Amino acid sequence: MENGKKAIVMSGIRSTGFLHLGNYFGAIRNYVRMQEEYTCYFMVADIHSLTTHPDTKELKPNVHRVLAENIACGLDPEKVALYCQSHVYETAELYMLLNMLAYKGELEKTTTFKDKVRQHPENVNAGLLTYPVLQAADILLHRASLVPVGKDQEQHLEMSRNFANRFNHRYGNVFPEPYAFNFGEELIKVPSLDGTGKMSKSENQYATIFLSDSDELIRKKIMKAKTDAGPSAPNMPKPDYIENIFLLMKLVSAPDTILKFEEDYNKAAIRYGDLKKQLAEDMVAFVTPIREKAESIRTDEAYLRRIMEMGAEKARISAAATMEKVREAIGLKYY
Ligand code: TRP
Repeated sequence: MENGKKAIVMSGIRSTGFLHLGNYFGAIRNYVRMQEEYTCYFMVADIHSLTTHPDTKELKPNVHRVLAENIACGLDPEKVALYCQSHVYETAELYMLLNMLAYKGELEKTTTFKDKVRQHPENVNAGLLTYPVLQAADILLHRASLVPVGKDQEQHLEMSRNFANRFNHRYGNVFPEPYAFNFGEELIKVPSLDGTGKMSKSENQYATIFLSDSDELIRKKIMKAKTDAGPSAPNMPKPDYIENIFLLMKLVSAPDTILKFEEDYNKAAIRYGDLKKQLAEDMVAFVTPIREKAESIRTDEAYLRRIMEMGAEKARISAAATMEKVREAIGLKYY
């Protein structure tokens, strides 16, 4: 980067739901890699979660859990700014100012908004409509150019770029254009255990491995994964659901273990019971330390408070500097 400055990475973490293997391999593992190379801001999107009117008693346990799980996966609050959206008030100011540059028509066209309208016709609030404006404020507040997100956020990011460009044209150049970034690699899709689609928090719970699942639950889920009577001849192509079991193995098992089962499969001598038992044990060995670490962090309120304060402090320094430039560019300076 110019001036030897590191590029700025920003991403938001949803505060609802438990983290699963798909989140780990699809997102968090990339965050952990980015924290070594970039200036990173990772934010728990607690204000965004209010758009769907959750039970507010759940806010605190949800925020604590998502912080604990991300730290247990390797995110280091010393290396990055790990903070809560609601702790950085400048977000609200930038959101308000960006709202003047966001048009009703484009907001109504947003896929995520249309989905919400369909799912909850009784709660079509303005926060939901302007969800992408708040997200743009999160990103632009740090003048971030790299945003590690999945495909489902592409449209929101395009809107962030549009808002940034409109601001720059109307008031003067303050913001870089933010782009989705994952080290130029395709994001890993973690297949679900029922042979359909990928692991996700909303679909079949039994087909998704959560980082909070107990050892027994992990074993149970994997043993229930769909298989069949096995290949009837050597070197047959694998059906999707068998391919998926091998894909999961590639994430958590040793290379020679995978090779052995590949060979058994190609010899038409594979025993799916053994395959799943092996995968279950390797999965347990992978998840257990994360679950235990997350649990000990989650219950350490003093530590969580310290890291939230530290994260908010780092985020506010960057936010305050941006907002100075924003107010000046707009001309909100009268003396
Ligand atoms: N909308 C994102 C999601 O649903 C979460 C998010 C909020 C976000 N603010 C962000 C992502 C800023 C990237 C950058 O996952």
